[in-house]
Amino acid sequence: MTKSYAEVPEIFPPENIGPSGQVASYLAQMAIQHGPLFRWLMRRDPNNPVELLFMVGPEANRFVLHTHREHFSHDRGWTPIVGEWMGHGLLNMDPPEWTLHRRMMNPAFTSAYLAAYLPLMHRVIEERTRDWGERGEVDLYSEAREITFDIAATALAGFKTGAEVDHLRGLFYTLIKGPNLQEESWEHFLERRVQIIAELDGMLLPLIAQRREQLRREGTTGQIRDVLGMIVEARDEQGQAFSEEQVLAHVKILLVAGHETTTTLSTWTLYLLAMHPEYRDRVMAEIDAVDGGGAEPLSFEAIRSLRVLENVVKEAGRLYSPVLSVPRGVLKDFEFAGYHVPAGVQVRLSLAACHRLPHVFRNPDVFDPERFEPPREEDKRTPYALVTFGGGPRVCIGMGFAQEEIKALVAHVLRRYRLEVVDPSEVIHSDWLVAYLPGGCRVRVIPIDSRTWQVPA
Ligand code: HEM
Repeated sequence: MTKSYAEVPEIFPPENIGPSGQVASYLAQMAIQHGPLFRWLMRRDPNNPVELLFMVGPEANRFVLHTHREHFSHDRGWTPIVGEWMGHGLLNMDPPEWTLHRRMMNPAFTSAYLAAYLPLMHRVIEERTRDWGERGEVDLYSEAREITFDIAATALAGFKTGAEVDHLRGLFYTLIKGPNLQEESWEHFLERRVQIIAELDGMLLPLIAQRREQLRREGTTGQIRDVLGMIVEARDEQGQAFSEEQVLAHVKILLVAGHETTTTLSTWTLYLLAMHPEYRDRVMAEIDAVDGGGAEPLSFEAIRSLRVLENVVKEAGRLYSPVLSVPRGVLKDFEFAGYHVPAGVQVRLSLAACHRLPHVFRNPDVFDPERFEPPREEDKRTPYALVTFGGGPRVCIGMGFAQEEIKALVAHVLRRYRLEVVDPSEVIHSDWLVAYLPGGCRVRVIPIDSRTWQVPA
């Protein structure tokens, strides 16, 4: 017999669970103890406690992301989190609007486009990492943020790197990070936020107007453009273009979704390679085999062929998922795992906790990229087990873009530098929804000989 929602197990987290990097393992433990559904009363704001229904495991992933996705709203899940100021982009839209917009935007993320973005990625990576050797020590996390934002702003919106993009990154960062309540009241931040949003829109709207004007002058050229060009050019079946408000929201969401997550994952990938020299050497041997002498940046095909590196990136994403949980508002009642769940409930589908289930991934807390190699292939053995980029029709539209960017960055860095983590205990994966590294990730940078790939004696 189906049990009522009130009978869904309720969990009471210990005091010390919080920004400690242990959230995913803790939620996985809860799923082992209580099953794939449990309720959690979040008392972060004592005046406004929020009850969340956590769902964990491959079956829950398949149910929410694929088979029963029409029961769940992205809008009611994501919009309260990203904020109304962002407007509605792909991430927080529901069908039928989403279906049309996704169809119009998919072409900007096909292989032909990804190959066209690569020279720009190489240029940004080269410029931003050139002085690492002289500096001797860098914080990988803040460096990665600069690199990924430059790439997102240029490839997605057509900005030129430099002071303007640095300023734009600062505006987004302030909005996403929120106030430091020790230095500023919430009310003051809200006032400041209005000004920042106006400034942000003031930078993006002229860019959109320019593109419309360019399109009017030149017509559809069929040439590869940046993503903004594609969005401005896109037409639905009735020949209707996106409105200005819609284009603005898409650009904002792409800029945010396209850089915070990639920042985290590239930091963790470089960290893990620094901590596991045996894998770093395997990746370097693989790069050596395709790099044609080492002077030129790797081609798109060469980057795609790096399987050992690909598995390291997959393993970094499994252990340290940039998106820990995806939020959904329940639109229609459903039954799952023997329980009835009514409309109106707020769900958190915990991708990161699924990655830590021992019956899905052997020794889940251990860094072991070989788990993805045949014959183990733990990600393929269970459908919807590895969901770093989500899954089903709403799988991350930027997945190929992010993988290409991270592989290009890692290959570039490994060919020039040896990295040593200054203090691994500072490097923490934190938060509940979208991860960040509160302590950064400081590394010592030692230039290596470009021919032998060894540290000079
Ligand atoms: C390591 C990097 C990234 C990770 C881990 C990541 C993760 C995810 C996840 C888990 C989802 C599904 C969200 C849900 O189901 O609610 C998603 C969706 C999305 N991502 Fe990414 N993402 C990354 C990079 C990017 C990049 C580079 C872009 C843009 C260029 C991007 C744009 C989006 C958009 C627009 C969606 C919504 C797609 C839709 O609903 O149709 N992401 N991402």
